[in-house]
Amino acid sequence: MKADIGVIGLAVMGQNLILNINDKGFTVAVYNRTITKVDRFLNKEAKGRETIRGTYDIQQFCSMLKRPRKIMLMIKAGKAIDDFVEQLLPFLTPGDVIIDGGNSFFGDTIRRTYYLRDKGINFVGTGISGGEEGARHGPSIMPGGEYEAWPLIKDIFQSICAHTPQGQPCCNWVGSDGAGHYVKMVHNGIEYGDMQLISEAYSLMNGLLKLSHSQMADIFDKWNSTELQSYLIEITARIMQHKDNDGKVLLEKILDKAGQKGTGKWTSVNSLDINVPVTLITEAVYARILSSLKAERVKAAGFFETSEFDFTGDVDSFISDIKDALLASKIISYAQGFMLLKAAAKTYSWKLDFGDIALMWREGCIIRSSFLGKINDAFQNNPALESLLFDPYFSTIIKSAQQSWRKVVSTAFNAGISVPAFASALTFFDSYRSAKLPSNLIQAQRDYFGAHTYERTDAPEGQFFHTNWTGTGGDTSAGSYQV
Ligand code: 6PG
Repeated sequence: MKADIGVIGLAVMGQNLILNINDKGFTVAVYNRTITKVDRFLNKEAKGRETIRGTYDIQQFCSMLKRPRKIMLMIKAGKAIDDFVEQLLPFLTPGDVIIDGGNSFFGDTIRRTYYLRDKGINFVGTGISGGEEGARHGPSIMPGGEYEAWPLIKDIFQSICAHTPQGQPCCNWVGSDGAGHYVKMVHNGIEYGDMQLISEAYSLMNGLLKLSHSQMADIFDKWNSTELQSYLIEITARIMQHKDNDGKVLLEKILDKAGQKGTGKWTSVNSLDINVPVTLITEAVYARILSSLKAERVKAAGFFETSEFDFTGDVDSFISDIKDALLASKIISYAQGFMLLKAAAKTYSWKLDFGDIALMWREGCIIRSSFLGKINDAFQNNPALESLLFDPYFSTIIKSAQQSWRKVVSTAFNAGISVPAFASALTFFDSYRSAKLPSNLIQAQRDYFGAHTYERTDAPEGQFFHTNWTGTGGDTSAGSYQV
């Protein structure tokens, strides 16, 4: 019997996804560039599973698949995808589907979709989130690309993905060409933001309030049964308690230099490209970069030593302030993320369903949380919602958390504890809710030194003026570049 789907790539994500697909009753053909891995997998993880079939060259692999063929690449993003596409092409027929399940850059996915469309092949770029566990037992899946492929893969994807508590699949068609990988990129950016915010909460509880790890574990545990419920809070509670072989908390032995593979950076770069103020994610990316300057930081710590700040307030009430600051900042981060998705839909002509995206992230992925259920509700109630900040549920939380949030940021500033994400969220909030900003002065300065022109409050928008500020400048204005 021919296979329902073929998977190329037997690294841990590929292996786990194959086992998951097979558990759901589908026959899978598998192939790996290093052939020895095929037999190793068949004799170990896939032992006894007759409906997982090993293949040893690309031609044999393609001939084992039901038509139209469905081929999933679970390999490293980048050139390897293009290489495998070229190797597959001679053995494919029009109507076949190639799926890229890696963390590919959405621009590459757009390019590949059009390249393969010319050859009659349906290309799908899909985000898959949830790490190894997710791949094995139910990830969040975000497919985009050639829509014709969707009815062919829908059944498989929606049976292997995670499901919401109400039973809805955390996988739906996202949109054309690079939309699936774009949404996964934003997911990762938000993941960076969430992780930075949680780390700042830890820094305040540990550095300022001097709480022990077991106390912090209890707090994160408690928070996990509130509006903050999420996978990242849950694992943070567990990390706080994890002991090294010598019985000491492992966390404090881990070097404070955060790594990254680039998807958070892509989100920030793209936000600059399409003019969306995604400040929190960008701050989180910079925080990781700054953390990596360990040697310089150690030097600067000696250079700018400050006296210890004694916290004199009520500890329990400050813990509750931190919780409010975390929640309010998280709302800002997601509001920015959805602003980005909205602008991307316009820029790249994608029909994105924001409620659906929240639902896809509700379970299975790294940012999974009950909070995403509320975001889904917000877009269900108003699909044209301008910003999450205008949704009654979120605006009510922000309003009631505001004082605590300000207290946390100002206390951290006074104590000299770095809280870039909490502070950037609050700064964004204060700018966003300002009917008047000092940008009139920037316009005046631009016009003063470079005749860049300005608009006036007492004239219709779009009408530009230039002033001869010094009396010696000319009346000619420079061309204006509007973002
Ligand atoms: C996921 C994750 C995953 C990501 C890692 C590492 O959704 O399962 O987002 O795709 O690659 O979390 O990311 P960094 O190394 O950039 O932190």
